[in-house]
Amino acid sequence: MAEELIVASSTNKEERYKILIPQIKSLVEGEPDLIANLANVAAALKQTMDFFWVGFYLVKENQLVLGPFQGPIACTRIDFGKGVCGTAWKEKKTMLVPDVEKFPGHISCNSCSRSEIVLPAFKNNQVALVLDVDSERLNDFDETDQKSLEELMRILENCL
Ligand code: SME
Repeated sequence: MAEELIVASSTNKEERYKILIPQIKSLVEGEPDLIANLANVAAALKQTMDFFWVGFYLVKENQLVLGPFQGPIACTRIDFGKGVCGTAWKEKKTMLVPDVEKFPGHISCNSCSRSEIVLPAFKNNQVALVLDVDSERLNDFDETDQKSLEELMRILENCL
């Protein structure tokens, strides 16, 4: 396993993802433990993309439960259909929220968070976990984030 992440010096996020994703793929490929992999992925995303908060919520019975993350402390449990994360779980799709204040039912774990993207990963067609990324800036996520992070979720599905 690579001990150090190679981070693109470019400010272009497409390039950053392009360099990051193959490294994440090789990082998780040799490790069977899901939590270990999610912890490294959260750290790699935080280090490379400088997100305000990045982490995972895992489906456990009828709730999402906080998993590995990087950033300030966050709410530990989210109900099905609640907030952006619970909605991504219920609707089984990526939720891209340019302004969290305009998302009905948004759960505010930190008042600094202003925009958000949440992506589900599937096992046997059921959502097994979601990746949640928060930004302190409004409208900070776009199609590049969605496409790249969805690619990352497909890699993580091989760990589920
Ligand atoms: N904002 C999320 C809750 C999780 S935190 O942002 C880390 C939501 O509405 O589901």
